[in-house]
Amino acid sequence: MQSIREILRDSTKRLKNVAQNPYKEASLLLSFSLHVEPIWLMGHDEDIMDIPADFLENIKRRENHCPLEYLLNSASFYSRDFYVDARVLIPRPETEILVDKVISTCRDIDKPSIVEIGVGSGIISIMLSTLVPNAKVIATDISQDALDVARINAKRHSVEDKIKFIKCNLLDGVYEKIDILVSNPPYIKKDEVLDKNLSYEPDLALFGGEKGDEILKKIIDEAIRREVKILACEMGYDQKDKIKNYLKQYSLNAKFYQDLSGIDRGFILESSY
Ligand SMILES: C[S@@+](CC[C@H](N)C(=O)[O-])C[C@H]1O[C@@H](n2cnc3c(N)ncnc32)[C@H](O)[C@@H]1O
Repeated sequence: MQSIREILRDSTKRLKNVAQNPYKEASLLLSFSLHVEPIWLMGHDEDIMDIPADFLENIKRRENHCPLEYLLNSASFYSRDFYVDARVLIPRPETEILVDKVISTCRDIDKPSIVEIGVGSGIISIMLSTLVPNAKVIATDISQDALDVARINAKRHSVEDKIKFIKCNLLDGVYEKIDILVSNPPYIKKDEVLDKNLSYEPDLALFGGEKGDEILKKIIDEAIRREVKILACEMGYDQKDKIKNYLKQYSLNAKFYQDLSGIDRGFILESSY
């Protein structure tokens, strides 16, 4: 038996080498186990209790670099809460820029038909079907696990009837005309040495092939073959020149964008179809 204050003190110590804010993480994990808001802990720090077994297990997993989002089954994107677990990539803040770009580029298209390749947790398709009026959204993923999580989130955000989910490779199961194709595909090269926390995320969501840009290039080919009006993709920090050169064979130029840290992060390709 320990007081909440002692539990938090000890677990904060255990997390100090892995977390940027170990006290905050310990509080979030304890409040998650106790089914209370973190602020509740502050008013009850002298309460004595058995340390919850699932809390101890989560502290151990976090010490081993398991991302906090997987332990809390929660990640924030566009200021909304999404369910996540180890079946999907954890939403990254920079992907909000990709969503913003799509919203601004499709303003002039009436009832746009939007397709996302690699829906993962669903963040992109869900935000687009929420924020783009009259959009018809189709979301594909090669992973049934990812589609299952995306459906949980679509339901949570009340857009489950507005998105058609398809399990397929790239666009293989999509037969509709596409105005806007969007993707944050796997783009890391196969043998890249990753941070420990990334090792918890699905390989399918991370690795884009031997060189990393193989899936991105296939997506470009598909966009051109299907005469897509706008292609919007996230990419790796070192892939701008490779994509630029790849587009030269089609005599096309993309507009590249950077994230808030000034790192090359994606591109928009607009065509005149
Ligand atoms: C980097 S994650 C992006 C997930 C989500 N859209 C996001 O931005 O957080 C890439 C997703 O693409 C899926 N994927 C990988 N290869 C694919 C393929 N050939 N066809 C369709 N989806 C694929 C993975 O399963 C994964 O869910």
